[in-house]
Formats: sequence, structure tokens, C-alpha cells
Amino acid sequence: MKFRKNQPENEDDDPWWKPTTPQYYDPYYGGDHKNNERGGVNAVALGLGLGIPLGVIACALAVFIFFWCRKRRRQNRNPFPVPFAKKGNDYETQLDSPAYSIHDPWLLDRNNLEINYSKKLGSGAFCNVFKGKINGEAPVSTIHPGQRTQQLRDCPVAVKMLPSFADDAARSDFMQEINFMKSLAYHPHLVSMLGFVADRKSPYLLVEFCEHGDLLHMIRNRKQEIIDGPAVSLDGLKIKDLLMFSWQISNGLEYLNNIGCIHRDIAARNVLVDSSNTCKIGDFGLCRLTDSLLYTARGGRLPLKWMAPESLSSYEYSFKSDVWSYGVLLWELFSLGEVPYAEVQTTELLTTHRSGKRLLKPEYCPDEIYDVMRSCWQELPDDRPAFQQTCSILAQMLEKATENYGYLIPKHFNNQTRDPSEQCDNV
Ligand SMILES: *[C@@H]1O[C@H](CO)[C@@H](O)[C@H](O)[C@H]1NC(C)=O
Ligand SMILES: *[C@@H]1O[C@H](CO)[C@@H](O)[C@H](O)[C@H]1NC(C)=O
Repeated sequence: MKFRKNQPENEDDDPWWKPTTPQYYDPYYGGDHKNNERGGVNAVALGLGLGIPLGVIACALAVFIFFWCRKRRRQNRNPFPVPFAKKGNDYETQLDSPAYSIHDPWLLDRNNLEINYSKKLGSGAFCNVFKGKINGEAPVSTIHPGQRTQQLRDCPVAVKMLPSFADDAARSDFMQEINFMKSLAYHPHLVSMLGFVADRKSPYLLVEFCEHGDLLHMIRNRKQEIIDGPAVSLDGLKIKDLLMFSWQISNGLEYLNNIGCIHRDIAARNVLVDSSNTCKIGDFGLCRLTDSLLYTARGGRLPLKWMAPESLSSYEYSFKSDVWSYGVLLWELFSLGEVPYAEVQTTELLTTHRSGKRLLKPEYCPDEIYDVMRSCWQELPDDRPAFQQTCSILAQMLEKATENYGYLIPKHFNNQTRDPSEQCDNV
């Protein structure tokens, strides 16, 4: 700051600042030309000897100060200074700084957001999600224009916020989640960020509103529809839909892996379903972008039952540990919303995995899907498939699947007349 104030004065007033002033270079400076020839030469030597190095140093200094000041101004403009997890008071002052609100293209004016606090969409240990509505254009429309089908003006949103008692770790995770979501391109199978609103305590994150809520609750609520299957209702949710969900999630995860992201919290509760029954991966709270193929974390809140053995034993995460978790998600899906390892103590999980025991095939799960799960639960990470592979396996299954996919023939056979050729495809 001190430098910035002084600099202009130096430039204008200080004589040594101007190395090209004639006094240093005029050989006749300082006296009569004829009588002072030697003196003239000395003046040149002095001029060159002192003036040029001083000038060069001064220039370098000026350039340095200029860039230093500019960098500081840039840093001040960053709404989320990097070392964010600080004591409560620091945190509030940081957000109070005016630089926070003005320059971010993702920022929505609080006045353009309505929050319905009586419509809670979800809550976790450290966050609440309410339904809201954006009045006017959502900020994302200027950032990724023309890439999507959903409405971005006067549209419903999910508003994620931290409760006032949230601890520093939760706040820091939340910041990281917001910054991560900003960096994502639009993808149909990822929940996308629409903007954020600045608030004194912590910002509100605005994401796509997904009408059917999270996949786990949706499956649990509509379990009977799935069990009944096409024999009872043609509009109900079917096993073929679960197959479609599996593919969509796999496709979203393939994208995440391609951009170098390890999700670390893949579970049915973290997948949202929109009005057209499209699954979107949400909750990037534990997501980490990584340059190396392995990420080592410590502590924090961990989804133990979804974690691969290497994550449980040594906190190691990789794309392949995400694949393990994806296998558990498939199991949740095809068990129609059961809790995995319901009988296993969390302290026993690792020994269970190491002894080769795996979750059993759920009643309504087709064999070929269970094969995919089992491949995801290979002890050695390298033996597990990549998402690219699970994606293409599931796509092939989808291609072959009929409306009756996954249903046993005798169960509902007698109640409906069907094309006989279709029954042969049943698993
Ligand atoms: C807020 O949500 C409640 C509960 O769903 C609903 O009854 C009410 O109409 C909503 N209010 C507004 C203003 O949308
Ligand atoms: C089959 O149809 C009968 C009556 O036609 C009905 O009572 C029964 O619940 C149906 N079974 C199934 C599994 O839908």
C-alpha cells in the first residue's frame, strides 16, 4: 500500500528517476567547453557509470511495483481467498469485504431470490436445502449460454445453505463445493449450479431444482410400483428404468473422471431425479479434483458403507474407489432402497471386505447387473472396471431390454396378454 501511494510522486518529482536528463549526457555541462575538456569526459563517464545502472534499477523497481499492486488488487477481488477455513470472526469479515459481491458473474442479487422456508427439500448434518425461485435470469445463463433445455428465467431452484452453527470444516467444504461446481461444464447427468447469493455468514448455493428429489427416497417411495411392474401399471417405475438410471449415473461419473474428479461420496442419496426422470449426480461436498490418480484424505465425515477397502484402511481414493461405491449404489437401487450391510458393524466392514464377503444379490436384481456390481467390488482397484466400461456394458443391456426387463415370467404372467416373443428376453 505504501508503495502504491509513493510511486507516482517518484515518477514525477524525483530527479534521479529520469536518467535521460541532459545534465548527465551533455559533455559541456558544468563549465566552459574548451577549458574543461577533461571535466567534460569525466561527466560523461560519471553519467554513464551511475545513470544507466540507476536507471535500469529504477525501471525494474517500477515494473515490479506495478505488477505487485495489480496482483494484490486481483487477489482482493477473489471472493473466496484460498486458505478459507478460519476462525468465525475472520470468516465474516472476509465476506463483508465489498470485493466479495461485485465482480462474480455467478452472483445473484438477494432481491431476485425467493426462498420458501416451509418447503425443505433436504437436510444433512451440516446443510439445509429449501425450494426457491429465481426472479429474472439465472446467472448461469450468461456463463454457459445456449447449452441446455431447462428454463433459466423465473425458474425454480434448490437453495443450499449452512445452518448458523455449522463448524469451520463444514464452511470450508461448502466453499470448495461452490468453487468446484463453478468449474463444471453443463452435463445432463450432473446437477448444475445456477448461481449463488452472498450472505453475511455464508453464501447460498443455487442449483437446478430436481422435482423427484433424491434417488434413494424416490426408489423407497415407489418400491411397490417397481415390484408390480408392467403387469399392473404401464406408467409405473420399472426395473428397466432402474437400468436407465444406472447408465445415466455411470455416464455422469465417466465425465467427472475424465476431468480428473474423484467424487468420494457416490450413493443413491446423492443422486437427484428431475421431472423427466433423468438422474443427476449432486452433492459435490467431498469431491476433489486431482492431478494424481490417488488422493489421500484424513478424517472428516465419511460414508463408511460405500467406501472401498483401500479407502477404509488407508484413506486412499482413486477413480477405482469411486467404482466400488458405484457398485454399492447399484445394490441400493436394485434392492429397492435397502440399507447396505445393515447387519454389519462399521468396525467390522474392512474385515468383511477382506474376507471376500460381498453384498448378496437382491431379489429383483437381474444376474447381469449383479455381475457388474461384483466386478466393482474386486479387492484390487486395478481389477475393477472403469466407468467407461460400466457405461458401455449398461448401454448394451439397455439396447436389448424390453419393457419386461428384469421381471420373472411366472410372477405377473397370467394377468396380461403380451407379445410372446417379449417373454424370451426376460431375465
Ligand atoms: C411454500 O411451501 C409450502 C409447503 O409446500 C406451500 O404450501 C406454500 O404454498 C409455499 N409458499 C409459496 C409462497 O410458494
Ligand atoms: C392378477 O389379476 C387378478 C385379478 O384379475 C388380481 O386379483 C391379482 O392381484 C393380479 N395379480 C397381480 C400380481 O397383479
